[in-house]
Amino acid sequence: MFSSDNLQRAREIISRYPSSRSALLPLLHLAQDQDGWINDEAMTEIAGLLELTRADVYGTCSFYTMFKLEPVGTYVVSVCTNVTCLVTGGPAILHHLEKTYADDPDVFVEEVECLAACGGAPALQVNYEYHERLTPQSAEQIIDAYRSGQRTARRISGGPR
Ligand code: FES
Repeated sequence: MFSSDNLQRAREIISRYPSSRSALLPLLHLAQDQDGWINDEAMTEIAGLLELTRADVYGTCSFYTMFKLEPVGTYVVSVCTNVTCLVTGGPAILHHLEKTYADDPDVFVEEVECLAACGGAPALQVNYEYHERLTPQSAEQIIDAYRSGQRTARRISGGPR
């Protein structure tokens, strides 16, 4: 459920659009900013605010990988294994990070399609911040730098402020 401040913000966002359904993506970002993921209550509330079905909201959430349908850690690590990264070591990075952080609830490792950083392959993102030309070891060092506070992570969602 939106906090009272965020509910007010959601209504302000909706008022910007001639058709309320156009506010769906901004409201999903707002919900993810609040809770860190899109839970069932948020989907139901957003559907009600926009006069959509819950299936409409779920369909949009599940289409965009940026929206998380389960709780994720503080650090979302998105590892590309698409063609250029595939041939330059992306899968080895993915497997190393999955194994290294398997029991760490703060680090959520996911495999993603091309991050449009092919010139710097293999690439990954930490909370949507790019890192390129990696090895399994340098990728782990970068993540550990975030975890130790040597690097500052941006918020998980890039939604409306
Ligand atoms: S294939 Fe990995 S960034 Fe494009």
